[in-house]
Amino acid sequence: MYICLEGIDGSGKSTQLELLGKWLEDCGLTVTRIREPTDSMVGKLIRKMLKSPDAKDESFQRTLALLFAADRTLLMDHIQKEVDMNRIVLSDRSFYSSLAYQNGEEWIAQINHYALKPDLVILLDLEIETALTRCDGSDSFEEKDFLDEVRKRYLKLADQHGFMVVNANNGVNKVHDDIKRIVAPKLGMCI
Ligand code: TYD
Repeated sequence: MYICLEGIDGSGKSTQLELLGKWLEDCGLTVTRIREPTDSMVGKLIRKMLKSPDAKDESFQRTLALLFAADRTLLMDHIQKEVDMNRIVLSDRSFYSSLAYQNGEEWIAQINHYALKPDLVILLDLEIETALTRCDGSDSFEEKDFLDEVRKRYLKLADQHGFMVVNANNGVNKVHDDIKRIVAPKLGMCI
């Protein structure tokens, strides 16, 4: 199964993925962790570009969309192999991050033709003000008005694509419990 956590910057995805991964491993499952952008050459270039003050400009965003799609395409064989081996793939972001951050549904879908769709997407939703207190401001996207738009797009995508939405304003343990309650039945587990 390919499970993905989505959310705006500062939503706590990395912390929750670690907790979820550890819980699944403690239950005896084999977990593969991935994140986008990846550590590939393309992913490294993306991380540099995200620091540019121009990153939110239209042409820059289009270029980033292409790079995110390329980085993701490189990752797909790996995900497929892990899923085929009955491992649980836990991913920090997916194709849906591009829909939320780069916008432009049709074109983004086209350039992500080779991207696998996660079997389960959990959206960590929270107030922008709370999210921003958890960001260090080093990336251009970590800015109130921009993240406000991204949050709205995520909530719309959640409706359209059936994401499970978790209230990430709550404390770490409560959010972890909520995530476990979503994941457990999908894997035939009891909590
Ligand atoms: P993030 O999850 O914040 O990584 P890290 O915690 O390692 O910094 O992702 C980096 C940024 O990339 C984040 O602002 C969201 C953005 N992003 C997109 O704009 N489009 C995408 O397709 C992806 C995967 C990420």
